[in-house]
Amino acid sequence: MSPRDPLPRRTERLTLRRLSRDDLSAFQAYRLDPVVGEYQGWSPMSDDQALSFLHEMNGAAALAPGEWFQIGIADRRSNTLIGDIGVCVSGNGLEAEIGFALGRPHQGQGLAREAVGEAIGLIFDATDVQRVVAVTDARNDPARKLLSTLGMAHIGEHQAMFRGEPCVEHTFALARKRRERRSPDEGAA
Ligand SMILES: CC(C)(COP(=O)(O)OP(=O)(O)OC[C@H]1O[C@@H](n2cnc3c(N)ncnc32)[C@H](O)[C@@H]1OP(=O)(O)O)[C@@H](O)C(=O)NCCC(=O)NCCS
Repeated sequence: MSPRDPLPRRTERLTLRRLSRDDLSAFQAYRLDPVVGEYQGWSPMSDDQALSFLHEMNGAAALAPGEWFQIGIADRRSNTLIGDIGVCVSGNGLEAEIGFALGRPHQGQGLAREAVGEAIGLIFDATDVQRVVAVTDARNDPARKLLSTLGMAHIGEHQAMFRGEPCVEHTFALARKRRERRSPDEGAA
């Protein structure tokens, strides 16, 4: 990758890194789990589709405006993939939307907080983005809790359709300035 590639990036327990074709079985283990996918915008992929997605993300430009870029969350010691974070920087480069998923065996340990917090730091460090946003289904308590824990403010709700059913979506946002005002021991927020 180019010398400016913002990945990999490490935390105490995790490595944020590029996805690769070697991640196929670990990737499918959580991407095919209906509980993990319940409120996700993506749908399960066949192994062939997943391989080509992993390959595409391995070589994609990181954080290019207007494109979703998927970051792998790996166990720092084993380098095994345990989840991923999607980032889409807006066309004008000023806002980024994030989405995230962690395999069920890795939930409930603060690992999503560690990973998503680091990813927010990466976005602010590597781009001119002024605000990071996330949209989550109102019923997705773990995601809403995580976003609040990261210091993201609940800025709105709207009616939406998800897989043919009406739902309410909550939008959370964190401004670069607000993050900079918070102390380092409060994590990424
Ligand atoms: C959303 C999701 C990533 C949250 O994962 P998570 O593991 O619950 O989130 P966190 O990393 O913040 O972990 C918080 C839990 O770990 C516990 N924990 C344990 N050790 C911890 C530590 N060292 N630090 C912080 N929390 C810790 C917390 O007490 C909390 O438990 P609780 O929920 O019982 O109160 C996960 O539920 C998921 O992947 N869901 C499916 C995909 C999805 O819906 N994504 C959202 C799309 S917008």
